Amino acid sequence: MRVLVFDSGVGGLSVAREIAAALPGACLHYLADTAVFPYGALEPDVLVARVVDLIGGAVATSAPAAVVIACNTASTLVLGPLRARFPMPIVGTVPAVKPAAETSRSRMVSVLATPGTVKRDYTRDLIATHGGDCRFTLVGSARLAELVEDVHGSRSVPDEAFAAEIAPCFVEADGRRTDTVVLACTHYPLVLDRLRRLAPWPVTWIDPAPAIARRTAVVTAEAAQGWAAGDSTGPNRFFATGRLPETAFLARFGFPAAESFAAAATVPA
Ligand code: DGL
Repeated sequence: MRVLVFDSGVGGLSVAREIAAALPGACLHYLADTAVFPYGALEPDVLVARVVDLIGGAVATSAPAAVVIACNTASTLVLGPLRARFPMPIVGTVPAVKPAAETSRSRMVSVLATPGTVKRDYTRDLIATHGGDCRFTLVGSARLAELVEDVHGSRSVPDEAFAAEIAPCFVEADGRRTDTVVLACTHYPLVLDRLRRLAPWPVTWIDPAPAIARRTAVVTAEAAQGWAAGDSTGPNRFFATGRLPETAFLARFGFPAAESFAAAATVPA
């Protein structure tokens, strides 16, 4: 059974590795829109049109049983349009506000995401609905996803650059301080060790990838019974619309090599 994982760059690999663990027999196809990365500053209508077109092309190539949009920035906008268009289950990635509100003891929670994700109604509605009595600090980092792409493209990035991006997450007020940070961009778990080391004080970092993987396992099991998903397998494949990640890096996530993906002519780059 095949699952298509999509992100603007390599961040979705933090989700793909959890899907591989939850569904050991699954074949993963991954599409990274590296030609347009980062998505954080993209206008909503441009983002939606592009992702819908790209997923259309990738579904035709890969015939997946399910599609996982392993990108918070895209998920805040495209899940509805994708579900209206494609028959297979579409799993999204949205900020883990609910688990954060359920576990924070200080009731001070920060959501670390791209500028796009923090400004969307989707995120604000999640906080209004599931945030309980927590005080939320929304931190839209313009650079962190790019820094993650840099370090995984073998460019060195000084600690100070990472520390500056996460600093606004750490808030002290009224004798309380932030104890939980929601990683609301799939790139960030790829540098979690570094974020932990650079944090001004220890916090709980919430990575939603295991929950997304569990959800993927549920919907693919349902799809196998209902929707004619086929039984496509084969080796994992990694496609990118632009820059191709290094082979050694992809191998750590179970992808043998990167291949170019030709976006449809209608998709503006
Ligand atoms: N990995 C993406 C996310 O989860 C975003 C990175 C970007 O394109 O800015 O939001």
